[in-house]
Amino acid sequence: MNIEPASPRFGAFVRNVCLTQLTETDFQKILSWWHQFAVLVFPSQHLSSEEQVDFTKRFGRLERGLRKSQPPAAGMISNIDRQGNLLPPSNIGRKFNIGNSVWHTDSSYKRVAAKASLLSAHTVPASGGQTEWADMRQGYDALSESMKNWLSNKVAVHSYRFSHAWHKGLEFLSEEDLDQLPPVEHPIIKVHPDTNDKILFVGRHASHIIGEDFRSSRKLLRELTFEAAQEPRTWKHQWSVGDIAVWDNRCVLHRARRYPSNEPRAMARTTVAGDDPNNEWAA
Ligand code: OGA
Ligand code: MN
Repeated sequence: MNIEPASPRFGAFVRNVCLTQLTETDFQKILSWWHQFAVLVFPSQHLSSEEQVDFTKRFGRLERGLRKSQPPAAGMISNIDRQGNLLPPSNIGRKFNIGNSVWHTDSSYKRVAAKASLLSAHTVPASGGQTEWADMRQGYDALSESMKNWLSNKVAVHSYRFSHAWHKGLEFLSEEDLDQLPPVEHPIIKVHPDTNDKILFVGRHASHIIGEDFRSSRKLLRELTFEAAQEPRTWKHQWSVGDIAVWDNRCVLHRARRYPSNEPRAMARTTVAGDDPNNEWAA
């Protein structure tokens, strides 16, 4: 097993390992690389959904998806049906996925946001469709001292209803399911529980800042996200079928890049719940 960093602190390939036959020693090595690089890509693993779930569980408890009633499982981020036919642009699942193209951190609209997300490539377009990540440890470091100070005690409201309204992704859930996802609060500056790094915690689910003017704080959150998620703090991966990535959702923003809309793309997603023992989304 060996590591091939994309940069000194952020993003790396892990090669010469078989994730279905991982020893605890190798997993501990992977975990320490994950803490260092935040995003790891394992090329050419070709995991089944069950194998992906097994690998996911090594990082912690699984997180349920959008509905508390459903057992956690690998979900498909995809524009095709079970037979492999392209879904029409009007399809609700396709509309829902549009939101993934905007910088975000998974489940930040939940009281306990996701710890890790894993994505594996089942069908990929010939061009585009990369996943891109941005390092919010370096995003914090890049802030001015006065902005660091000002943000130090600020809390943002993150809201599923807010972030899914613009692309018509809301109809994906019933009113009862939506009621399970009320707005939640997250400090804008967080401390990473494993590495103690300071993190800029923003992204598309962040609606506004408590105690500040609604519209101008919404604008500020957009600007903070935009400015933090710039080179050299970003890394993107051009997928090949069989690749799997795991990112630290607590310190990384991510987004899907564009690809031709007539080409199929299907990615399997599993999620590790945040470590809070009272996390009602963990299973
Ligand atoms: C996700 C996501 C991006 C992509 O699975 O949470 O944002 O590239 N995916 O599909
Ligand atoms: Mn996502």
